[in-house]
Amino acid sequence: MNILLTGGAGYIGSHVAVELLEAGHGVVALDSLVNSHEEALRRVERITGAALSFHRADCTDPAALRRVFEAHDIDAVIHLAGLKAVGESVEQPLRYYRNNLDALLTLLEAMGEHGVHRLVFSSSATVYGDPERVPITEDCALDATNPYGATKLFAERILADAAAADPRLRIISLRYFNPIGAHPSGLIGEDPQGVPNNLFPYIAQVAAGRREQLRVYGDDYDTPDGTGVRDYLHVVDLARGHLAAVDHLADAPGHRVYNLGTGRGTSVMEALRAFERAVGAPIPHTVADRRPGDIAVCYADPGAAARDLEWKAVRGVEEACADAWRWQTANPYGFAGPPERL
Ligand code: NAD
Ligand code: WQD
Repeated sequence: MNILLTGGAGYIGSHVAVELLEAGHGVVALDSLVNSHEEALRRVERITGAALSFHRADCTDPAALRRVFEAHDIDAVIHLAGLKAVGESVEQPLRYYRNNLDALLTLLEAMGEHGVHRLVFSSSATVYGDPERVPITEDCALDATNPYGATKLFAERILADAAAADPRLRIISLRYFNPIGAHPSGLIGEDPQGVPNNLFPYIAQVAAGRREQLRVYGDDYDTPDGTGVRDYLHVVDLARGHLAAVDHLADAPGHRVYNLGTGRGTSVMEALRAFERAVGAPIPHTVADRRPGDIAVCYADPGAAARDLEWKAVRGVEEACADAWRWQTANPYGFAGPPERL
């Protein structure tokens, strides 16, 4: 199939591109590069030995999307483009609503104009808010605790309504839990701009000496060691989940939602210890206050994806730490390289 991959230069998008190319699909990557580098896509081509098409374009721009759909015969779309920083979304809610929802609406209209009916969408476990129970099944109550989460919740609603109105549409929303790790080649990985918000890239930068110490946000949660518990998912497993979803779109009329997680919870301290084992050295850390808005425990019941998509996460946190560390040491300043010295 020829697949349009929006957000293709990003962390998850570049790993999805690798899996699609390795499975023999054609990839048309579209990205505004607002949070990524084109170099990631050149690395994807190096890993796979296959070529992809790249369009630097904004998903909110109808004319740009039209040009892409006219230039390629697209069979299906994987839509990952979006802004994703929770704290930033609280400070700039309108930018998040405008970007994430406008991108989806503009894309759906362009798909309609060009007769493309198959879509896989990046949703998030954030749609469960503070989950009513764990492990989380897809029928758990939904809630948004910040503007970013609301964009995912509204997007799912838009997709459900669009699919209800047009029986030709086949849409799968994948609710990712916490993606971590990097491609085992060490050529692509997570490349946060500025101070990382998420645990693993922060730990990696402390381990590399770029930051002084990790602040563990709270050790008084109602969890076995008092620190927050999450379902960390290797990004290569996550990328393969997209391949599984694309393969099952034909049998999935309407809008379906699937959790992509491992089903296992890991605490902040367990994550830190796993990373220390990958590095072979202690990683400085200190306990700090809880981070506002954080929840205690979140992990998936991934049973529906196993049953319907025939997908399961097979890589563990240890392997993800080793892969993240390989990426970090080979690319200490990410795709952009070291800052210029005066
Ligand atoms: P990322 O920032 O690395 O990738 C997103 C990409 O989208 C970037 O390359 C960015 O330049 C691009 N982009 C943003 N707005 C765009 C627009 N209007 N037009 C074109 N390109 C645009 O983030 P990621 O971690 O790879 O996330 C990919 C998707 O997965 C996002 O939708 C995100 O919300 C979702 N998600 C991520 C996580 C996570 O923890 N990383 C968890 C759940 C869901
Ligand atoms: C994990 C654990 C922190 C940083 C966020 C978004 C979510 C999703 C993924 C997209 C928590 C602790 C973290 C640090 C710490 N994104 N922590 N010190 O909060 O589960 O999810 O990213 O959809 O929407 O909310 O992930 O990696 O930020 O935190 O102790 O410096 O690590 O308190 O327990 P989170 P995270």
